[in-house]
Amino acid sequence: MATLGKDWWKTGVVYQIYPRSFQDSNGDGVGDLAGIESRLDHVAGLGADAIWISPFYPSPMADFGYDVSDYCDVDPLFGDLQAFDRTLAAAHARGLKVLLDLVPSHTSERHPWFLESRASRNNAKRDWYVWKDPAPDGSPPNNWLSEFGGPAWTFDETTGQYYLHIFLTEQPSLNWRNPAVRDAVLGAMRFWFDRGVDGFRVDAIENLVPDAELRDNPPNPDWIDTMGPARSLLGIHTQHRPEVFEYVAEMRRVAQSYEPEKLLIGEAYGTVEQLVRYYGPKLDCFHLPFNFLLIGAEWRPRNIAGVVETYEAALPDGAWPNWVMSNHDRSRSASRVGPEQARLAAMLLLTLRGTPTIYQGEELGMEDVAIPTDRVVDPWEKNVPGKGLGRDPVRTPIAWTGGPGAGFTTGEPWLPIDQRPQMRVDVQYCDEGSMLSLWRTMLALRRKEHALSLGDYRTLHLDDHVFCYERSHEGRRIAVALNFSAETQPLPVTGRSLLSTAPSAKHGDDDPLAPHEGRIIELA
Ligand code: GLC
Repeated sequence: MATLGKDWWKTGVVYQIYPRSFQDSNGDGVGDLAGIESRLDHVAGLGADAIWISPFYPSPMADFGYDVSDYCDVDPLFGDLQAFDRTLAAAHARGLKVLLDLVPSHTSERHPWFLESRASRNNAKRDWYVWKDPAPDGSPPNNWLSEFGGPAWTFDETTGQYYLHIFLTEQPSLNWRNPAVRDAVLGAMRFWFDRGVDGFRVDAIENLVPDAELRDNPPNPDWIDTMGPARSLLGIHTQHRPEVFEYVAEMRRVAQSYEPEKLLIGEAYGTVEQLVRYYGPKLDCFHLPFNFLLIGAEWRPRNIAGVVETYEAALPDGAWPNWVMSNHDRSRSASRVGPEQARLAAMLLLTLRGTPTIYQGEELGMEDVAIPTDRVVDPWEKNVPGKGLGRDPVRTPIAWTGGPGAGFTTGEPWLPIDQRPQMRVDVQYCDEGSMLSLWRTMLALRRKEHALSLGDYRTLHLDDHVFCYERSHEGRRIAVALNFSAETQPLPVTGRSLLSTAPSAKHGDDDPLAPHEGRIIELA
């Protein structure tokens, strides 16, 4: 295996842990750090190189941890700093890097900074958040909308002004133009880096700095209501503002001040052009701005190939790509593409050029779980019901075994668990044909074959059913042929078959592609 040193993440595979739903250790129905520690062999055994843990900081949990009330501690629900240190040490002992989730654009309304800020107009921290007088008729200062429904402004009776919140009322936006705010958040980064953390996934970066003049956003002519109310406006004055890149570069300088350098992955949703700007004008922003293009793409070979080629072409010189199929905010890949194509989606994710991020449960083929109305907890679904925006279905706990708590908890799980045997880790472990076995085999092959991790990318063949591409490195050429259809399709290349998604197919090297089959082929 190539050892790239500080560039480990170029061949690396990131595994996202959503801590509430990974493993509960104390029977309260919510996962925790000790639970993560106890399940690290699963992640290491899968063949991942790093875990990214979604927020476990103190939080009132209005947005399940993305409303942080202390950047430098652990919520008692998840454990404490000692439990974190143990998890970190246990991960490092297994060769796993640990990335945390930094939420710089907003805090909880209960963060001491905001409690001070809202206390009076002349409080020293007033300018740490974005406050504005009401419009003459008393309404909000402009037309901006919250991502989770309703206006992006809440009126504060005590001081007679509105404060900005791009997300929930409970998530006031920090004012990044204030250098004291930047220092405070960069200080929190250092706190975790000094503890041994290897990097951050940085949340909601496109919203970091809204327009200084607070200009109204224009209407979105292409809006349909399933996009959610916030998308009825084009976020040109709230998202991807030029100052964002200066501030991300400040974060990068903190990461660079460590040896080896810490990794920064940024979360921004946008067009390809908008995404790649987050590498920074001099590749001085994120190492990896998340690439969510596959999440939004229609699952047809021409669309997927189009996404791959567009992204490859848009990457700045020297920028390293990355790919994401699923996360804790979007419908799971197995539900989007269907269970038969889920294996193909996995093969695509692990064989494109760039660092893949796996969302916990993706390795099991977990699907979105229908949530009965009385168990809905996601504030987005509560605020904007019935539009399919809620994220509970993609956040359900992992079923490790059978039994009432599915090995996840001895208590009542905070969300329902998909208990079907085929979704269980213990069942899949013992089955060579399972999704989990396929992921393990693919990850092992990827680790062995530099062509699959570091190799150049080239499209070899594309039609209405089959997408086939080549990865090549130092003279070794490997093809990946993906059959998106339910029919047998001709194999567009010749070579020796290394791996197939078809569970028990006895295929010869020249056999056509079975329905839904993906195959990795060594080219002569
Ligand atoms: C990001 C997170 C999401 C959260 C939002 C607000 O998009 O992934 O879960 O609700 O930011 O912090």
